[in-house]
Amino acid sequence: MTRYALPERGDHWYDLRQEVYASRGEDVDWLHGAFFTHWPEPGRNIHAQAMAVSNVFFNDQWLGKYSQPSFNRAVEQIEGMVGDILGAPDNGFVVLTSGGTESIEIAVKTARDWARSERPEVKHPRMVLPYSAHPAFNKSAAFFDLEVVRVPRGNDWRADIAAMEAAIDDNTIFVMGSAPSWPHGLIDPIPRIGELAQRYGLWCHVDACVGGFLLPFYEALGHDLTTWDFRVPGVMSMSADLHKFGFVPHGMSTVTFRDEALRSHLVFDFDDWPSGRYATETMQGTRPARAAAACWATMRHLGRDGYMDLASGVKATTDRLVAGIAAIGDLAPLPEPEAGLVVITSTSVDLFAVSEALEERGFPHGMTREPPGLHFTMNPVEDTRPVDMLLEALEGAVNEVRGGRQVSDGTEGSYI
Ligand SMILES: Cc1ncc(COP(=O)(O)O)c(C=O)c1O
Repeated sequence: MTRYALPERGDHWYDLRQEVYASRGEDVDWLHGAFFTHWPEPGRNIHAQAMAVSNVFFNDQWLGKYSQPSFNRAVEQIEGMVGDILGAPDNGFVVLTSGGTESIEIAVKTARDWARSERPEVKHPRMVLPYSAHPAFNKSAAFFDLEVVRVPRGNDWRADIAAMEAAIDDNTIFVMGSAPSWPHGLIDPIPRIGELAQRYGLWCHVDACVGGFLLPFYEALGHDLTTWDFRVPGVMSMSADLHKFGFVPHGMSTVTFRDEALRSHLVFDFDDWPSGRYATETMQGTRPARAAAACWATMRHLGRDGYMDLASGVKATTDRLVAGIAAIGDLAPLPEPEAGLVVITSTSVDLFAVSEALEERGFPHGMTREPPGLHFTMNPVEDTRPVDMLLEALEGAVNEVRGGRQVSDGTEGSYI
């Protein structure tokens, strides 16, 4: 490791500010470049206002009895608004976490402990996942000692139900689908996965980390979507990230459970040490109140009409990008973007070479390996220029590849 000594005498605020502003100069300007690899910004100065509210709780924390009543009320309101947006069953409950990975971890932990009580004959619990599921499911399985099987995708890039069913064995306790999946931006056939779960007595989780706070508003705008939420009878839990299309500053996600009775499998409750009872519902102990306070302010300020506007904006950006890539030629979306992510594929140009050329033009983006694709997150930009600039750069990159540019060795898709 490289050691960095604490300054003998603390630095002056002026020097610290100079240093941080200077070093930020070499970073990507996510906000003002409206880059499509960053989770969307709500615009209209909303995060600046949310920051002011979050500063009111700057060093508050929310573990145990000294969490402040004012903050507890804000948390209760966030949980209530989340339950309302996601259509949680009346007897359901919402838990706030630090991010999608933590939401998935505690859903898997709850499912495992539910299976220990409901299916005690299972000694080596196992999860069956579509190939496109987020790595957080394997991470959770590694933490909580479950076996994982990923089954190949269907021809439409969604979960293949027949393959999932064939992979279910006596040890299987958990199946899931994504709404949408990160790699392909498509909603898995959740009603059929829920049906499998009911037939085989399994826990069914919906990973709506990306779509949880976008799809309800898409539906309200009249888009016809596969049913993806608690309306599907077998669904027991759902992860949904506020810091993605919930438009709140980073550090906020949610996991919602169908039934209050499941809480006993979630809680870690310990009493055998000198300081008395310690009971928590998340992976964290002491946690900062800041992110939840910023989240509360953002949600309350946006309101239903704000979320509807932002969802329309996400759709408008998607449509503009899709129309633009059709005009460039040699490119196509996979297959019709459903939920705020666009994957651009090609059968005629090398997308890894296009990716390099696009990066050189100053447009960071994600890549998928299967199929080779350029991966973009849709921002509801009020000004269409960022989309047009991206399209112009993309056209330039494609033309370079048409003109013979080759990919350099070793380029491949990478999530992080
Ligand atoms: C579908 C899906 N699930 C889970 C996650 C994990 O979320 P986080 O990075 O907030 O932990 C992501 C992140 O992009 C995702 O796309």
